[in-house]
Amino acid sequence: MPNSSLPASDRRPFRIAHISDLHVLDLAGTKWHRFLNKRMTGAVNLAGMRRNAHPTYLAELLADRLRESDIDHVIITGDLTNLALESEFARARLIVERIGPPAFVTLIPGNHDLYTRGSLRHHRFEHTFSDYLVDEGDDRRSALTNGRLHYPFVRKPAPHVRLYGLSSAIPTPPLLAFGHVGKAQLERLRQLVAAEPPEVRVRIMLVHHNLHHRVGIADHVASLFDRKAFSAVMHDVKATAVLHGHTHNPHQGHLPARLDAGVAIAVSVDGPQLQSDIPVLGCGSSTWNHRGSLERARFNVLEIGDEGLERVVSYRLDANQGAFLPEHDDLLDKALGKRIDL
Ligand SMILES: [Fe+2]
Repeated sequence: MPNSSLPASDRRPFRIAHISDLHVLDLAGTKWHRFLNKRMTGAVNLAGMRRNAHPTYLAELLADRLRESDIDHVIITGDLTNLALESEFARARLIVERIGPPAFVTLIPGNHDLYTRGSLRHHRFEHTFSDYLVDEGDDRRSALTNGRLHYPFVRKPAPHVRLYGLSSAIPTPPLLAFGHVGKAQLERLRQLVAAEPPEVRVRIMLVHHNLHHRVGIADHVASLFDRKAFSAVMHDVKATAVLHGHTHNPHQGHLPARLDAGVAIAVSVDGPQLQSDIPVLGCGSSTWNHRGSLERARFNVLEIGDEGLERVVSYRLDANQGAFLPEHDDLLDKALGKRIDL
């Protein structure tokens, strides 16, 4: 339960779990003609290399663990489904509800959630999760009618914490998985941050695609096209951290302060400001059954104090115990030790 009503000195950190890339699979009731598009290659992949790569029971185990924990909020950075089918969204919705109500969970789409042009046109992700894409009591019509134009949205899990959900997910041709955020989202993000009340101290940015370069072909066919523009705006809006999914292995790095001095002066929405390195954290897939080993299923927990991000602890599945156990005590060290070269 959130504990922000306590005096500052008595508060424990506000704790946010970051999970990602659940890839819930459910083909029930799907007619064969729905595979006569990009899903053809996706289905072949699922029957081959990715067969049982993300067992749904792991997502359910994780949901139960998070619901019963003392976590204050849960973030899911996309790819809740595989082929953006209605049956998968229905199953993914059940898992998200199992984690908790909309006030407890924030999520954004990944490229698999907009796998086809039809899924984009019908706003399938937004129709499924509209109440998780706005704050409690806010009008859901923007999510339902605007689809991709709904992003970025802002959520307020605590008085001093803001979560900004951006969408890098776009339908792509077969075998490609690149993403794009675009100028309109970045401009609106500036406006939303400029309108924050003064008590806000922490801004967590959520985007599905990674910012770092990957080795091999993935960097060409599955990257964020406008990662330079995106990263520049992260400094402008004084982001506390960027969380991403997409890479099923975890990743930690940072966007260096622009003058390469660790701390630099930059013009932000508040005028000239001290600028510092921005941690970028990918938690990896939280349901990954990699080549028959469940040991790569992971999630992170961010601990947020009154002034900022204090610690990031990673948890990894111990298949023998059937439980997620702490793996690394503080990933912030690792993130701040590794610069992301754009
Ligand atoms: Fe992805």
